[in-house]
Amino acid sequence: MKCVFIDPPYNTGSAFTHYDDGVEHSIWLSLMRDRLEIIRRLLSEDGSLWITIDDNEAHYLKVLCDEVFGRSNFLSCSIWNHSVQSKGYSGKFSVHHNYVLVYQRSPSFVLKDLPRQEEHNVNYSNPDNDPRGSWRSGDVRNSLVRKNLMYNITTPSGKTIQHPSKGWRFSRETFDKELAEGKIKFSPDESRIIRKIYLADQEGRVPETIWFAQDVGTTREASSEVRAFVEGDFFDTPKPERLLKRVLEIATNPGDLVLDSFAGSGTTGAVAHKMGRRWIMVELGEHCHTHIIPRLQKVIDGEDKGGISEAVSWQGGGGFRYYTLAPSLLQQDAYGQWVINKEYNAEMLAQALCKLEGFTYAPSDAHYWMHGHSTERDYIYVTTANLNHEQLQQLSDEAGAERSLLVLCTAFGGRGDYPNLTVKKIPKQVLSRCEWGHDDYSLQIENLPKAPPFPPDPLPQAGEGRKSMPVNVAQGGLFDEGGEITWQRSRR
Ligand SMILES: C[S@@+](CC[C@H](N)C(=O)[O-])C[C@H]1O[C@@H](n2cnc3c(N)ncnc32)[C@H](O)[C@@H]1O
Repeated sequence: MKCVFIDPPYNTGSAFTHYDDGVEHSIWLSLMRDRLEIIRRLLSEDGSLWITIDDNEAHYLKVLCDEVFGRSNFLSCSIWNHSVQSKGYSGKFSVHHNYVLVYQRSPSFVLKDLPRQEEHNVNYSNPDNDPRGSWRSGDVRNSLVRKNLMYNITTPSGKTIQHPSKGWRFSRETFDKELAEGKIKFSPDESRIIRKIYLADQEGRVPETIWFAQDVGTTREASSEVRAFVEGDFFDTPKPERLLKRVLEIATNPGDLVLDSFAGSGTTGAVAHKMGRRWIMVELGEHCHTHIIPRLQKVIDGEDKGGISEAVSWQGGGGFRYYTLAPSLLQQDAYGQWVINKEYNAEMLAQALCKLEGFTYAPSDAHYWMHGHSTERDYIYVTTANLNHEQLQQLSDEAGAERSLLVLCTAFGGRGDYPNLTVKKIPKQVLSRCEWGHDDYSLQIENLPKAPPFPPDPLPQAGEGRKSMPVNVAQGGLFDEGGEITWQRSRR
């Protein structure tokens, strides 16, 4: 991931319509730590994490992030002026800001400039008709102590200008050269040096740590954006599209991958989509169906004229896929042993393990042991049985010398050497690939195999005779059937 933006429940103690936002402080921090650790692993070396948060947990979260990301990777705790209306509770502060906590994955991250607008050029002028155009006076003081840049300057009338306490920003040679070129000059009373910063040299503007409502929007603006695509069923805590635009402008480039694992009403995906970034969103609540999917459908169909649509000339296009996460495949029994979750029947298990092992789930009617394939000659067989030597030998014989077979079973007791079989125990194999048992959504997404791009190779024709059928392979549907929706723009 190039950029992760999260807007987790702030732990305010509120019960919002779509989710509760009040857990014990240490529980909130533990939940956040688990997610921050996963997010850190998912980020690319040049990636960054952006978190919106308020005073309830901001300072504790900062310490937690320091611990997970390292203090040296802290970039900013920017202020977002999220509301302009006074709350008007006498005797209490009227809170007008949230924070945006920013961490880089490593120093490879590059913070991009924001585009310049006319209003950012107001300090530039050309009082001396400099042929290079408008300029402003730049700081000449070094921010670090630089002994070699501590030299005094003699003015044309013989006055001495003392060096700043830490030294100049330029060497004596640069000073002489730029003075001769007219890029440096003396003030009329020759008491100070003016170094010109030319407008023509300015491409963007460095992001600042105060994000004003007029530039990035307010929560009120965000609510009206949500009202535009969901009738009646509002969402309590959306973020304005302009806020996300600011983040993605300075943290990503077109085509980069953006993750929001607390998607809410889907602002991050909508903005990333309109800005030509790829995106993944995760949401726990039912509003995934009532808010996120309708919102993204409108974005793709070009019907969403709100938010940043006009600013980025959004016309529609693209598509998305939608998945439902399966329950945890393994669970611990009363003795702490890892066992297969009872919610999984044999077909679901076969399908899940095909996914995890990088096989295409394609059960054969002809061969009970062909549950999927990775290549033309490499197959997978999943069973909850305890396989003995005779059964393994039979599988080896049936697969034959020309084919290889990965056998995943709960236990095995083979004697011989089966050159075409690789036999593994399911709980051990699954445990080594994934992280289980923390909660329902702790799946390590990075370990999921990629969907194979090629169509299934022809499997043996029906009629070769089914020897036995320990797994009912007719049932589908763990990740695909009903769990995945593809939405593609229908018209251009
Ligand atoms: C503050 S809202 C996010 C709002 C979002 N930024 C927007 O613009 O609409 C937080 C969201 O996190 C979701 N959430 C809470 N715990 C979660 C979890 N463990 N996994 C995924 N989503 C979660 C809540 O259901 C809620 O929708």
